[in-house]
Amino acid sequence: MTSINTSTTVPASEGRTEWWRDAVVYQIYPRSFADADGDGMGDLRGITDRLEHVASLGVDAIWLSPFYTSPQNDGGYDVADHTDVDPRFGTLEDADRLIEVAHSLGLKVIVDVVPNHSSSEHELFQRALAAGPGSPERDLYIFREGRGENGELPPNNWHSIFHGDAWTRVTEADGRPGQWYLHLFDTTQPDWNWDNPAVHALHADILRFWLDRGVDGFRVDVAHGMAKPEGLPDSPVGSDGMAVVPEGEVPVYFDNDGVHEIYREWRKILDEYPGERMMVGEAWIPERSIPKYVAPDEMHQVFNFGFLQARWDTAAMRRAIVEPLRLADQVGAPTTWVLSNHDVIRHATRYGFPPDHRFGEGLSREETPDAELGLRRARAATLLMLALPGSAYLYQGEELGLPEVADIPDELREDPAHKRGGVPGRDGCRVPLPWRADAPGYGFSPTGASWLPQPGSFGLLAADQQAGVEGSTLEMYREALRLRRALKLGAHGASDSVSFSDDAPDGVLIVHHGPVTIVVNTTPDPVTLATLPVDHEATVLLGSAPIEAGCVPGDAAVWLAADGAES
Ligand code: GLC
Repeated sequence: MTSINTSTTVPASEGRTEWWRDAVVYQIYPRSFADADGDGMGDLRGITDRLEHVASLGVDAIWLSPFYTSPQNDGGYDVADHTDVDPRFGTLEDADRLIEVAHSLGLKVIVDVVPNHSSSEHELFQRALAAGPGSPERDLYIFREGRGENGELPPNNWHSIFHGDAWTRVTEADGRPGQWYLHLFDTTQPDWNWDNPAVHALHADILRFWLDRGVDGFRVDVAHGMAKPEGLPDSPVGSDGMAVVPEGEVPVYFDNDGVHEIYREWRKILDEYPGERMMVGEAWIPERSIPKYVAPDEMHQVFNFGFLQARWDTAAMRRAIVEPLRLADQVGAPTTWVLSNHDVIRHATRYGFPPDHRFGEGLSREETPDAELGLRRARAATLLMLALPGSAYLYQGEELGLPEVADIPDELREDPAHKRGGVPGRDGCRVPLPWRADAPGYGFSPTGASWLPQPGSFGLLAADQQAGVEGSTLEMYREALRLRRALKLGAHGASDSVSFSDDAPDGVLIVHHGPVTIVVNTTPDPVTLATLPVDHEATVLLGSAPIEAGCVPGDAAVWLAADGAES
């Protein structure tokens, strides 16, 4: 048996619960969760009305994707005013009420902060355009002269994450083509200049604004992006002259050390507030960088995307458990676990792909992953995740086993990655949720309207079809979360270690954590528990598929524990 020691955790100081260390957080994507006003776009009142569903799952917190004033060119990640609510989603009073109701249900509230860029409709960007080259207004963003004889070439060779150039040229007041501005994402998402102290002050005010309204934490968007390398050097190029990102690395504009000064600043602000406010970073960085972001004076957590990217393969999954625990432990931080979010193909679909399938760019209509297999494996992967120490992030609809939707007509797709790059994009995981099988729009909206069409398969998966049904995905999540809490499975220091049985048969992963043993059978064939190196007296606590006659079916997982572990 191989152990990973996780006992270096810093003890919670007196009176502090460090609630975030083992919290299960449910991500709400406001456009698609629930629509109260009937316009087909989700809203804050819709969320508030459905918070009991979230609380009934047994999670600790919600994370709300952006609901701020925005032209919605990137689903709200293009913020025009960070201290107001977009009218499509409601009002500031609606936000206050949501926070109040969530708290009354025992749910903490995490909101998104989007500090790498603003919307091009942000008042300060509009002023920067009007003020002209060399002005203090322009210095809030990253404007540069172009290269080439007449400045007709972009200032460097950087590519946007959403395809195409990362620079757009503006027309100056005299009508001539002028400077270029940097946008790592869409043209309508200009990057802030974090070398300018005014940008720091502006964001400190945004954090305080929401902290004052009672939020418990922030999810930091593109947390690896704000600090750009000195002099904005070109990316390395391949033999064809095109910019390349070496294997295992990130583009030159990501993961620069300057971001850490920002988080140290922010951590001080959070620590001034009562009630243990926290930050979790969305940072697609090489694993080795993780400890820097979660150092004791920076963020509390970063998303662990290695787990999400691991293939349905015991070696890959084992590595995706061991490495993040080891890295986070170096600085006494908890790790996080994520299987789905609003940017990736839903895991109920992803696991139905052939093993080497890519994760990014969405699902095209031509691809037909095996839906039944995908869901079986997704349920098993979820059970594995929820038994591990640390904090877990769930994405709305995964508790219903929702698949990625492939057949959205191109003209209805909104993802800028689709519009700029022609890839399917991320709309397929953002389709409005089904609440009731027999209601118009599956109960998403009182009028039946829905900003993206819902597929017929959503009827059977609607929440009301699964509630109270033994073995449904919804009830499996509820039971797993109940047991996770009762057995304190998330507690980082509770059992000091996670270990693996090295003598498990091929294709079977056996993980021991605290009072439970998790058996994941990645093969298509059933395995008999009696033949496995596990405690044969142990009780089956929960299975991702029915566990009959001591057999773990193919592509399934089970939690085992000694009798009485639950009491
Ligand atoms: C993050 C968000 C994603 C958004 C991008 C730009 O990756 O999760 O949805 O498109 O940042 O803000």
